[in-house]
Amino acid sequence: MSERIIYITRRERFNGAHRLFRPDWSDEKNLEYFGKCSNPNWHGHNYHLFVTVKGPVNPETGYLINLKDLSRIINDYVIEKLDHKNLNLEVDFLENTIISSENIAIAIWDQIEKPISNIGAALHCVKLVETENNFVEYYGE
Ligand code: NI
Repeated sequence: MSERIIYITRRERFNGAHRLFRPDWSDEKNLEYFGKCSNPNWHGHNYHLFVTVKGPVNPETGYLINLKDLSRIINDYVIEKLDHKNLNLEVDFLENTIISSENIAIAIWDQIEKPISNIGAALHCVKLVETENNFVEYYGE
């Protein structure tokens, strides 16, 4: 029988403020394109982050990885840097980025891919839920 691959997902949450805008556009043009998310005085979201990793089950433990390790990586590399922060102004790995869910998800991938591979799993998906109705998924392509 060929090796079986399992996928496992850890959810974490953070609260962040942001503003969607292009500095080279007027406030009017930003408002027209980005809507309320371009408010110059900021606004916040309660983000839900789902990190899915994949790999074989370790026959000694029955685990793919210990979820405590995955949670620690996500917290150290992502949550502590984002939670209760202004995502436009205070996050080193989001500098010079339009703070969209798309770009945040890609930046989160780049933060955690290597640490996850170091604990013996492969990062499969970063899913970022901004609102009940809107979420993005990034698969590393
Ligand atoms: Ni927003």
